[in-house]
Order: sequence, then structure tokens, then C-alpha cells
Amino acid sequence: MKIFNSTAELRLELDSQRRNGLCIGLVPTMGNLHAGHLRLVEEALRNCDFVVSTIFVNPLQFSPDEDLQAYPRTLKEDQSKLISAGCHCVLEPSVDELFGSNLESQTTLHIPSISNMHCGKRRSGHFDGVATVVCKLFNIVNPSRAFFGLKDYQQFLIIQKLVADLAFEIDLVGVETVREENGLR
Ligand code: PAF
Repeated sequence: MKIFNSTAELRLELDSQRRNGLCIGLVPTMGNLHAGHLRLVEEALRNCDFVVSTIFVNPLQFSPDEDLQAYPRTLKEDQSKLISAGCHCVLEPSVDELFGSNLESQTTLHIPSISNMHCGKRRSGHFDGVATVVCKLFNIVNPSRAFFGLKDYQQFLIIQKLVADLAFEIDLVGVETVREENGLR
């Protein structure tokens, strides 16, 4: 599995795969991978020729009362899991690489109405952050298909609206929840 920190280098790799006629699948994650993520990779491998996963703990989707630093970072374990799953490459950008050094000045997206419902009510700015990073990853990877868990159904609907409203030519694939043996998700 190829590991990229640089978006420019990833783009070069993907351009070459596209020239070979391969269909690119994207599985965005924030790392700390579990069976649900690996199910997304499996589904992507079934439906695409070349699968890119991304591991990026996105600061924009943490609301002010949430602890970004406490989010588990398990990069080495995540890489091993992706290798075992058969993922072809992974992008692990730094915050600077993705958003530049001034996060405050980053252009952000807002998907109206649905972002402020349900969990959006208590997680101020969360879905704007999700939409912004997913949009950016779509532009960098330019996948034919992108895979998201249906467990986060509100997030899935928001990304569906983003794809429709901004005219991305991407097939969104929603993948059913995986239950752990103890019944937890
Ligand atoms: O579902 C997640 O893990 C994240 O919200 C996503 C889609 C990778 C964006 O950071």
C-alpha cells in the first residue's frame, strides 16, 4: 500500500491510474479504524479498481466544546488494517497540507437546513466542517465512487446534498452498519 502525506503526489499517482483506465474509489476516514471502516474498504474494492482511503482528523468538524486533541490517533495500527484489507493507497495529510497554516481563513461550506437538525443542533459547525473536508477530498482525489457508512445517516444525507448541489460527478455509496460481536456499533 502506498502512503502519501502530500496531496500533489497523490494527485500524480491517481492521474496515472486514471490514464490506465482504472475506476477510483474513495473511503474517507478520521482513522482509529474499526470493522465498519474495513467494510467500506471491502465494498470499495468490490466496486472499483483502485481504492484510496484518507486518514485525517479534521479540526473543522470539532465544535468548541469537543476535544480535538483527545481524538484517538492510531496511525500505525490503521495502516496495518488497511494493508490487510487490500487498500491500494492512503492519504495522511497534515492540517497545514490540507488547510494551510491559517485555519480561520479557510473557505467553508454550509449545507442549509439539514445541518442544523438532529445532532447538528448540539454540535455547532460540525456538519459545515464535514462538508468542507469531504468537498476538499473529492476535489483532490476526484473519485468515481465514494463510500460512507449509513450509520451516520445525517452525514450521509448532507454529503448526498453536497454532491447534488455542487454537481460532483461521483457515485455515493452508502454502506450498511457493521455490528461488533458485543452488539455495539
Ligand atoms: O465519518 C467520518 O469519519 C468523518 O466525518 C469524515 C466523513 C471522514 C469527514 O472527516
